[in-house]
Amino acid sequence: MRADWLKARLAEQTDRPTVIVMHHPPVETGIEWMNTHPDEPWVARFRDAVGGAPHVVGILCGHIHRAVAVGWEGQTVSICRSTAPQVALDLRPIDPDVPDGRAMIVADTPGYALHYWNGQHLVTHFEDADDHVLLARYDVRMQALVRELLAERP
Ligand SMILES: [Fe+2]
Repeated sequence: MRADWLKARLAEQTDRPTVIVMHHPPVETGIEWMNTHPDEPWVARFRDAVGGAPHVVGILCGHIHRAVAVGWEGQTVSICRSTAPQVALDLRPIDPDVPDGRAMIVADTPGYALHYWNGQHLVTHFEDADDHVLLARYDVRMQALVRELLAERP
């Protein structure tokens, strides 16, 4: 039913670059206890709804509490970090019968994603929510580098 709704909405404006924003990513990420299994029925329904929509330029998700980018069915799925605690990076299989003491939730810096449409592509920047430690700012010392890098472009 929701897949039918999505398919109908995507058919309304096929010339308009469109982003799909959803909670669970439709892809297996390697963190087994947070995973989406590729054989879950909703993934097949979602694939069917999005597959005929070449104007979809990106799929944005959460749930994993980590910054992850993955290609899926010709789309880029961008998964954002959490504004709360993060999920530890551990790609080992997990046994629900054997709590092995691995890190699961960590108090790493909250983050967010900024999505920039450059007129052709959706560009996703993953950013820390905390302040940065500044190493250089644009002043006369950096001016030569800026000139050099810009001069490399046609
Ligand atoms: Fe979730």
